Amino acid sequence: MQVFLGILAAFIIVVALLWLLVPAWYGLPPVTTTRERIRKALELANPQPDETLYDLGSGHGRVLVIAAKEFGLNAVGIEAGPVQCVISWLNARWNGVSSQVRVEAGDFFKSNFKEADIVFAYLTSDYGERLAKKLAAELKPGARVVTVSFDLPGWDADVFDRERLIYLYKK
Ligand SMILES: C[S@@+](CC[C@H](N)C(=O)[O-])C[C@H]1O[C@@H](n2cnc3c(N)ncnc32)[C@H](O)[C@@H]1O
Repeated sequence: MQVFLGILAAFIIVVALLWLLVPAWYGLPPVTTTRERIRKALELANPQPDETLYDLGSGHGRVLVIAAKEFGLNAVGIEAGPVQCVISWLNARWNGVSSQVRVEAGDFFKSNFKEADIVFAYLTSDYGERLAKKLAAELKPGARVVTVSFDLPGWDADVFDRERLIYLYKK
């Protein structure tokens, strides 16, 4: 029994460390934004059913589930944290939208965004410059980008929600 409890405790500690340390390694805490702010950001992007949304750094999958369940979108999350990826997968299953949601484990700077109709990103200004160049190079014409809490240098925002710090851009 003691051995079992020891293994269980070690497992929980490893999972907790991975949950915290991987996002921290990328420079961000694994925090999500509010549902209200996510809904507002998605509404600004004027989503059409069956379009594809990418969430860059998708955390626990809250944006993916709202996008799939409330807006009828196909949602792709790219997330560095392995624990966050597992939680997102469970979250999508629990909410009955796993057929619309895909989670890719890894660094979104190594992915290509050419399939995205809408990109959502809740990050910091440290990401702005590099992300702005990548989005400009890879997004198809007509794609929309919503950023929360940071802007994209060199892009002109079509809408800026000052109260919620949400920027909408169109390519
Ligand atoms: C502030 S959270 C946002 C979570 C989610 N988008 C939301 O709004 O609920 C940022 C997430 O981005 C992830 N992240 C940061 N840099 C990343 C990168 N280069 N590639 C993949 N994930 C990254 C972190 O692990 C963290 O879970």
